[in-house]
Amino acid sequence: MSAPAIKAESHVIDGKAVAAAIIENVKQARDQLLSAVAVKPGLAVVIVGEDPASQVYVRNKGLKAEECGFHSVQHTLSADIGEDELLGLIDNLNEDPLIHGILVQLPLPKHINEKLVIAAIDPEKDVDGFHPINVGRLGAGAMEDALVPCTPAGSVILAKQALGQDLSGMEAVIIGRSNIVGKPVAQLLLQENCTVTIAHSRTKDLPGVCRRADILVAAVGRPQMVKADWVKPGACVIDVGINRVDAPEKGEGKTRLVGDVDFADAATVAGSITPVPGGVGPMTIALLMANTVIAAARASGRPDIADGVKNL
Ligand code: GUN
Repeated sequence: MSAPAIKAESHVIDGKAVAAAIIENVKQARDQLLSAVAVKPGLAVVIVGEDPASQVYVRNKGLKAEECGFHSVQHTLSADIGEDELLGLIDNLNEDPLIHGILVQLPLPKHINEKLVIAAIDPEKDVDGFHPINVGRLGAGAMEDALVPCTPAGSVILAKQALGQDLSGMEAVIIGRSNIVGKPVAQLLLQENCTVTIAHSRTKDLPGVCRRADILVAAVGRPQMVKADWVKPGACVIDVGINRVDAPEKGEGKTRLVGDVDFADAATVAGSITPVPGGVGPMTIALLMANTVIAAARASGRPDIADGVKNL
């Protein structure tokens, strides 16, 4: 018998396909919720100002909510709106029975206190999972009550798809300690029984620390920072970065999106790797839809209907 073939190329994880499977679960839960309790999940997305990248994200979230058959509303506020006015809108959405999920797109203009705004959202409608109550629930492992941040949840689902469902005992290294990604992804991987290291800009010998990882999550916002010699052979690499860089090869003034990982280089060593675009990005939106149907099911007294929505 011939020797098994050596894997010459890493497996590229198809985030679009996995996201589509989550969306199918969301649609099923949405149908069940409608027939069982006549509730249609409602999502409100709030955007302040005209940041072009934020506008694209918000538009895509609204389109996906419509595709899922949700009640979908967008509030577009001018960049010079007062903090009080934004807080007033959030109060109204908190009280609105047709709305089960509220997302305020970040970043906010400098004169608005982001922490205050996040804390004003009803934790049961906080589909971003950024409210201190949900941060605490995640940290305490109170998953039946928590709303979990979307990008971290999507990242862990992709790792489980690539590595099999059981991540127990694996070494996980996360580069980046943000509240939005690094810290919550660490909590989720800890719950999966990984041995977790959070690395950051002050970490000594960052490439050496990364080389220990069976699961390497890059969430720093530095284009193509992670190179092949940062990756343990066979590791699963999850690239959370979305960076727009100049692409003179496409013509003058053109740009392209790249991750925090040098994909072509790292793919020569990794066992599996997410592309940018088409990796974590579609998962973030899919998990937002999942959180919205979960919030609607809980609010309707039927949390069981959305129980398995993140399971593949
Ligand atoms: N800006 C960048 N990522 C996110 C996110 O996940 N949620 C919100 N609300 N804003 C963001």
